[in-house]
Amino acid sequence: MAAAMNPAHRDRHAELAALLRRYEYEYHVLARPAVSDASYDRLFDELCRLEADHADLKRPDSPSQRVGSDLRQDLPEVPHTVPVLSLDKAYSAAEVHAWMDKCAAAAGHPLSFTVEEKIDGSSIVLYYRAGLLERAVTRGNGAVGNDVTANVRTIRSVPLRLAEPLEVAVRGEIFLPLAAFARLNADAEDAYANPRNFAAGAVRRVKSRDVAAIPLRLIAYEALFAAGQPSDHASSLERLRELGFPVNASNALLVADEQLDAARARHPHWRVAPPAAPAPLADVAALLAQAAERRTGLGYEIDGVVIKVNEGAVRAQLGVTGHHPRWARAFKFDAPEGQTTVQGISIQVGRTGRITPVARVAPVAIGGTTVANVTLHNQQYVDTLELAVGDQVAVSRRGDVIPAVERVLDKNTAGNTTWRMPERCPACAQPLELAGAHHFCRNEQCRDQVRGRIHFFAARGQMDIDNLGSETLDQLIERGVLQDVDDIYRFDSGQLLDWDGFGERKVALIEAGIARSREQPFRTVLPALGMPEIGPNATELLIAAGYHDIDKLRDAAKKGDPEPLTAIEGIGERTAAALIRQLTDPANVRRIEALREAGLNFAAPAPTAADDAAGEGAFAGQTWCVTGSFAKFRPRDLAAAEIRERGGRVTGGVTSRTTHLLAGRAAGGKLAKAQRLGVSVVSEERFLELLEGEPEAPPAGPDDAVREPATRPPPSPPAE
Ligand code: IVH
Repeated sequence: MAAAMNPAHRDRHAELAALLRRYEYEYHVLARPAVSDASYDRLFDELCRLEADHADLKRPDSPSQRVGSDLRQDLPEVPHTVPVLSLDKAYSAAEVHAWMDKCAAAAGHPLSFTVEEKIDGSSIVLYYRAGLLERAVTRGNGAVGNDVTANVRTIRSVPLRLAEPLEVAVRGEIFLPLAAFARLNADAEDAYANPRNFAAGAVRRVKSRDVAAIPLRLIAYEALFAAGQPSDHASSLERLRELGFPVNASNALLVADEQLDAARARHPHWRVAPPAAPAPLADVAALLAQAAERRTGLGYEIDGVVIKVNEGAVRAQLGVTGHHPRWARAFKFDAPEGQTTVQGISIQVGRTGRITPVARVAPVAIGGTTVANVTLHNQQYVDTLELAVGDQVAVSRRGDVIPAVERVLDKNTAGNTTWRMPERCPACAQPLELAGAHHFCRNEQCRDQVRGRIHFFAARGQMDIDNLGSETLDQLIERGVLQDVDDIYRFDSGQLLDWDGFGERKVALIEAGIARSREQPFRTVLPALGMPEIGPNATELLIAAGYHDIDKLRDAAKKGDPEPLTAIEGIGERTAAALIRQLTDPANVRRIEALREAGLNFAAPAPTAADDAAGEGAFAGQTWCVTGSFAKFRPRDLAAAEIRERGGRVTGGVTSRTTHLLAGRAAGGKLAKAQRLGVSVVSEERFLELLEGEPEAPPAGPDDAVREPATRPPPSPPAE
């Protein structure tokens, strides 16, 4: 029988949930945090404790439900209740004006329009019933999308519960801010081309816990209220804001001059906090231009502006085509383009052996810079373009950064068809191998790979070796002084004095730069080795999880078991496999040993001295925290005893020193904190495996008696 609920607990739970919701809203939607992280954590912990004791308090809309789960989900296809349309495009301000006039003519009276940023992310429809998030569905083909509710629940700016218990379908865009994209994408071997693809991929991941670790955001831009629409779109957006949704602060409202005063009175909120005050209709061209200018400073990507009829009745009157509403237009920013000729295609060998074809084009000015080299990515990309040397091409600078060949304008007259990748590496003549979309040179000693590795290691952002610039490095490499990264710490700098252009001062500066780089911490040294997948992000996660020196990592790699690594939040199967492969690879082993001998840091400060003193055992050096309730460890001190048995430390709270969190059912605040800190989170199931799989099992004896309940538990009592 369920224990009778103390009404005081229910009240306290409701109070905590309401407070936490408000704090989340202030933090993630308004970006105006009202309390410190510590106060938030305290309340969050209290909420989770209450839920642990009273399971029926835990509801899908509880603030505790943002952490996601490790369970694999499939993302079933579900029908949309209304067609999810996309937008028709307009290509100039004049076209936008003409369309606005057409709408007003059809309505028979002057109209107002909203102007909104066109966020370049992943489109989502959020279905709420009785004020609770019921379902989140991708756009799909407009009629059917994927159910991604568990993933979307982890996005902090998505309200799980609305300020009022109503039924509404909300359309919005899920996106990844540029800074987060740069940080998260840096480690990935198959990096995403842009934040849009990253966000779209994240929303579709099969483990919601992985999604929880990605700082995705939402902006809401359309709503369909079951009880009827507000009379205009600006009011509809305002309703969304009141209900708790993040609405874009730069939305503008355009109205006819004679209606300006009335509109300002009617939409006072468009003046208070941003959105901006209603502006004259004639300002549309200026607004489009402003958005294009603001674009680079926004912190997230937009690819245009959306102009929408504001009046609901006119929207209904104009209706929709099969694909688009007639009441909206997307004005897409044009990517600056230029025309040029492909003079040659050379191939680059990256430090990991990856081959990239690059088009050498006749220099052409595009959007303020001169472009002479354009990446072609891989053979597939070239095939899609049907590109060959001599072709006339259109080149764009998408996102204002990477120039790309958009299309072939005119084929060459020399009869060249589509360019083909050579069979051998141009640097070392080794036959190339195709893996996925890319070709690889597998010769570790390949001149270009060696060069790439050394340049990468010394570069800013890695070891950051002062006074050892690109040109100097190339000279050292060409003359055979540097054959691998460890030579940097061993070569005789005196010999440089005999070379042209190397005076005493210059050589002394180089020596000083190299000497300073010896001080770089382990968290810098490891990613500087340039091993695929082992970038700064993965390195931080590994260190936080207790792999704070190279020996611990190499021991884990030698065992060849990816599980302890994938148990670390944020370390996926691919990274674990790469670690195992690379840290057992003889060339890497030699390189690491040589660098260690040269005095580089291959250990980060251990979490605590006491940890190391904890002695031997599978959990030696680890600091665990135990939270939640367990099927097989009751009371949960039994689990703590297992950890101590194996040399681990057990503490009461999660701190930066915690290496593992054993999380049972209804784990809450500590789990969230552990995830924030990158602490390895271990489930009961996994914990049992760790106990069983202990490599150095002590001989049979009293210890077995201790382990018995863990591996072969008595049937657990039914849950209260
Ligand atoms: S309104 C029926 N507003 O652009 C009208 N869409 O190319 C639905 N988008 O699928 C769209 N920002 O994913 C609208 N402020 C905004 C938008 C926006 C981005 C996306 C959306 C849509 C695509 C259309």
